[in-house]
Amino acid sequence: MKPILPGAPWLIAHRSMLGINQPHKITLNGQYYVIWQNQKGEVFALDNICPHMQAPLSDGWVCRDRDTITCPFHALEFDGKGRLYRGDKTDNQAITQPLELIISNDCIWTYAGFEPRLPIPELHQTVVDEYEFLGVTGEKSIQGEFLSNLMVNYDYNHQNGTHKELFKITSCDVSYFEENGYYTKIKQELKRADNTLGEIIKNPILGIFPKALSNTLEYAFPSTTVFFAKTPIGDIAQTHILYPETENRTKTFILMYAKVKNPMMKFLFKNSVLRAGATVIEQDTGAVESLYPRQKPKIRLPNEEIMFYAEKLYRDW
Ligand code: FES
Ligand SMILES: [Fe+2]
Repeated sequence: MKPILPGAPWLIAHRSMLGINQPHKITLNGQYYVIWQNQKGEVFALDNICPHMQAPLSDGWVCRDRDTITCPFHALEFDGKGRLYRGDKTDNQAITQPLELIISNDCIWTYAGFEPRLPIPELHQTVVDEYEFLGVTGEKSIQGEFLSNLMVNYDYNHQNGTHKELFKITSCDVSYFEENGYYTKIKQELKRADNTLGEIIKNPILGIFPKALSNTLEYAFPSTTVFFAKTPIGDIAQTHILYPETENRTKTFILMYAKVKNPMMKFLFKNSVLRAGATVIEQDTGAVESLYPRQKPKIRLPNEEIMFYAEKLYRDW
């Protein structure tokens, strides 16, 4: 496939998603990689295709003493630099490609071998400086091209359909829009109707979400959308991550960060925001996966210029 947005920094995983000495398969822009983390917290990634007879290394196993991955087919062993280990020594030369990684605040980024065109977004640092990491939620591989998934995040009307049941939003006003190249920021005033008890039991966060919400959304194109919201129990910085797996598949997950006012409430708050985040992704996925191929829209809704601004960044890359 022709790579999507080559030279963009992609956040392929958070450290907490990797476990210890467990191989994971990552698909990025049509390339397959295996990634693992050892007990010291070092992270390694290689081309997932075994250079012997093309078995997926991610189905193999990691040796904790040697920091190697063993191919599941004929049990050849490779270290994190892609060098074959045989007998009791490692070859000097790599035989398979390592994937270059940048680890920042437990987030694992890569340019997948392309010349970097944008830095790792500062937005992540501003979140980490102020908020505490709660966990990852809503991890999904969505059947849908990257652009459709990207545009949902800049779409201030889909809450009326896609998230109607969840948030009961009755009005959404975008009061402020700032664009600075690949960074954009908006302020959004939302009004909500009451949720039923059943809905609150399913998603307890709804019980504490105010009726009028002033949210901020900050974007670091193309990987990151942070939704900042305040509730009486705590403030959240819900960080949506996207990367293109293939032409028609997009990976997403949410890194949930929060500031909880009362430590006693932390556990409950954590579980409910993680659950609500997963529901949001579920709903967005359903919307994107059901779309017919994109055509020029014949109807315009308010605030869509922000979404088209993101589309333009994509097309002009
Ligand atoms: S295919 Fe990997 S060891 Fe043979
Ligand atoms: Fe959504």
